[in-house]
Amino acid sequence: MTVPRHVAIIMDGNGRWASRRGLPRSAGHKAGLKPVRLCVEECRRRGISYLTLFAFSSENWSRPVTEVGFLMSLFIETLEREIDDLARQSVEVRFIGDRSALGTPILQRIEAAEARCVPAAQLRLTIALAYGGRWDIARAARTLALDVMAGRLSIDEINESTLGQRISLGDIPDPDLFIRTGGEQRISNFLLWSLAYSELWFTERLWPEFDAGDFGAAMDAYAGRERRFGGVPAPREPAC
Ligand code: IPE
Ligand code: IPE
Ligand code: MG
Repeated sequence: MTVPRHVAIIMDGNGRWASRRGLPRSAGHKAGLKPVRLCVEECRRRGISYLTLFAFSSENWSRPVTEVGFLMSLFIETLEREIDDLARQSVEVRFIGDRSALGTPILQRIEAAEARCVPAAQLRLTIALAYGGRWDIARAARTLALDVMAGRLSIDEINESTLGQRISLGDIPDPDLFIRTGGEQRISNFLLWSLAYSELWFTERLWPEFDAGDFGAAMDAYAGRERRFGGVPAPREPAC
């Protein structure tokens, strides 16, 4: 079975999961931690090397301050609690997103998590926090412009490769499989550049209820896809 090297997930549906149970939205965010652990385990078990999770978008700042505050506290507590365990499981943690938008307490946790040395990590877990795909491309373009101004790069050297290297995930392979829970079929400003040729898989299941069976269903769907990248189908083996 073909296994993706890199899986990227929009973990959506926490609020609806909670509302359906008569609970505050915050309860849905809390319940969303279990499937995060599950996905880490599944990736390690199946030999998937990269997992990228959308935790908070640049647009999520528009939510009520109480919800944003709750989410930030949840990220801080979770990082503090889980980071040792992740390192023990050979998981290296990275963050992508606009750090200038984040407060000092969370920045400190992010820096501490990234400073953890995990030699020969089995899985790279990237958390997209205060992240927007358009922000990412604009930031990459700005770094190119700065290099041109400083004489380190010529205009002729601006191409898909030099821009792509400056995108937040530029040092790892593009996601092979994109998963979105919660029923919406949109990208919501996630990895606009890197998702160019990812296989897309959507499910009605809400994030807090996403389980090993759902993960397996996504893997099966991926294994059945034919990735052509604009080419033509691979020739079949001649029958003998
Ligand atoms: C995703 O769940 C979590 C974040 C965006 C932080 P939502 O909070 O968007 O849940 P729904 O979509 O309102 O159900
Ligand atoms: C996308 O979900 C962002 C995250 C899961 C972090 P949203 O719930 O914010 O997206 P929309 O509003 O449905 O597009
Ligand atoms: Mg949502």
